[in-house]
Amino acid sequence: MSKPKIGLTRRWPVVVEQELAARYEVLLNSEDTPLSADAIAQLLQNCDAICPTVTDDLNAEVLAVRPIRAQLIANYGVGYNHIDIAAASTAGLRVTNTPDVLTDATADLTLALMLNLVRRTAEGERELRANCWSGWRPTHLLGGDISGKRLGIIGFGRIGRAVARRAHFGFGMSIVFHTPSPPEMGVAEEFNAERCDSVEALLAASDIVSLHCPGGAERSGMMNAARLSCMKPNSYLINTARGDLIDEAALVDALEHGPLAGAGLDVYAQEPAIPAKLMARDDVVLLPHLGSATRNTRIAMGRRALRNLDAHFAGERLPDLIELS
Ligand code: DGY
Repeated sequence: MSKPKIGLTRRWPVVVEQELAARYEVLLNSEDTPLSADAIAQLLQNCDAICPTVTDDLNAEVLAVRPIRAQLIANYGVGYNHIDIAAASTAGLRVTNTPDVLTDATADLTLALMLNLVRRTAEGERELRANCWSGWRPTHLLGGDISGKRLGIIGFGRIGRAVARRAHFGFGMSIVFHTPSPPEMGVAEEFNAERCDSVEALLAASDIVSLHCPGGAERSGMMNAARLSCMKPNSYLINTARGDLIDEAALVDALEHGPLAGAGLDVYAQEPAIPAKLMARDDVVLLPHLGSATRNTRIAMGRRALRNLDAHFAGERLPDLIELS
């Protein structure tokens, strides 16, 4: 019997590509460049399942292609705001993601970004490499403090909680968080955290704010000019979730005219394009979407997608099925 055909839109770590190839006929994108809408539509027409990722736009138009051979979209990544779930369902496609396995890596990177930003380490390194360091002095590159400060976390799911754990137990930070409804018993108590009823209340109470909610139309631009103006004077904003959560023009304005002292970003509204006005600023730290970028995590993400493919072709329950809300 012939093996099911799987289309990958980007290269995966070789070890998981090999595991995949042992079980399936695999179509690789050997160039590893983002696929056009037409190329994604062709994969949907020619494969039994496709494995896209955040760089692929599976919008309603792409998913309207007919006839369609694929039955499963096994996304490589936890975030799925690049997939129109309703349009996928209309096309008879089920969608899965890769939760859990990237929680620690993303939380670690959030703390790295926070420290880098508040302690101005990227600025210091740029200065040193430009041969501009004149030596130690008491007033050189003074940053803010993290230890003992209040961290506001918007979105208190797996990654938000992993960040809270690191910040509270590692840096003695006090934690406030916002979620639309209260979390299960014991979650806030673990970090002695306090829930804020509104985003605005959280912004007004926090020295550093970190975003950990999903992207997508519903929350696009949620950190707009009005919200940014609620932040404390000289506070910091961190985003390792999705770029469209922040109105980037309003962010530049809040850095220029207050109240923000700085921003640490790993994600952008129009990746890989970065607004020139952000690029030009020393009070922002900009990373190229590295949240889950550890070798082990990227292998684990591939294996998680593989687990969903295997379940689908064995006719079993999909472990990471995304339900149509
Ligand atoms: C994720 O898993 O959502 C990462 O941001 C990569 O897409």
